[in-house]
Amino acid sequence: MARDIAVARTVAGLREAVGGWRAKGERVGLVPTMGALHRGHLALVGAARGQGERVVASLFVNPKQFGPREDFAAYPRDEATDLAKFREAGVDLVFAPPVEEMYPPGFVSNIRIAGVSDGLEGAHRPGHFDGVATVVAKLLLQCLPDAAFFGEKDYQQLMVVRRLVRDLDIPVRIEGVATVREPDGLALSSRNVYLSPEERRVAPRLHQVLTDTAAVLRERPDSVAPALAAGSATLNGVGFVVDYLELRDTADLSPMSALDRPGRLLAAARLGHTRLIDNIAVIPR
Ligand code: PAJ
Repeated sequence: MARDIAVARTVAGLREAVGGWRAKGERVGLVPTMGALHRGHLALVGAARGQGERVVASLFVNPKQFGPREDFAAYPRDEATDLAKFREAGVDLVFAPPVEEMYPPGFVSNIRIAGVSDGLEGAHRPGHFDGVATVVAKLLLQCLPDAAFFGEKDYQQLMVVRRLVRDLDIPVRIEGVATVREPDGLALSSRNVYLSPEERRVAPRLHQVLTDTAAVLRERPDSVAPALAAGSATLNGVGFVVDYLELRDTADLSPMSALDRPGRLLAAARLGHTRLIDNIAVIPR
């Protein structure tokens, strides 16, 4: 039988394990996840492994970041499979607290990171980034790792987390990891399992439109509005319902009216009941 992986269900248990490693001078990396693991999550584990001796992964489907009409109840959960994948990837400890450990009765605090949380995902998922910032602050302070690893797949989330640790002086280095994709370009996501076979065939168009739009913008840096309109029209034409397709400043996510500095193209679009997000860097010529 395969060796079991260590699992902490309480903050005290997590702190005891991490405290022991740090007392020996070992560096600790934290990989926060909501489970339903795929190669994207495991790339974060790989990056953490490459940077320190110990890797803690958290497995917690955070109710505070789901809206009332979102998929919290239906979110794919399979702890046994996730633990096996974490073990295989070389995780030393999984922190998998029950909801009451993270949010005991009487919990009322909320962290809101203004600015970077507004617009894009924030405009379509009210309160989402408050839930993310609150749980990530808790996880960072509970674990106090040297570094924590987040995917560029959720680019706005990465920017929210960077702002959070700067503003609150949380002594943790935040590392961004490149998006892992299927061979056809579709970004790996726990929600891809919701796609019907027909939707799965259309889904890679999202990345393709981002790539095509980036090429147009590099060619014609002043054509931001028409390029984005054409990209949205293409997506709507192949069956998506586009929530947004926008060019933002790579560092602070402020809107850009021309590609005159490094930008990020970010999109969210729905295919049937499934909402996909993706983004890519756009560097001016
Ligand atoms: P989750 O969606 O499980 O994602 C966990 C981490 O994996 C995030 O940092 C996300 O950006 C990264 N990730 C997802 N798909 C990826 C891909 N294709 N390539 C690279 N990285 C990818 O994001 C969350 O959970 C939550 O909001 C969390 C940060 C855990 C807070 O609850």
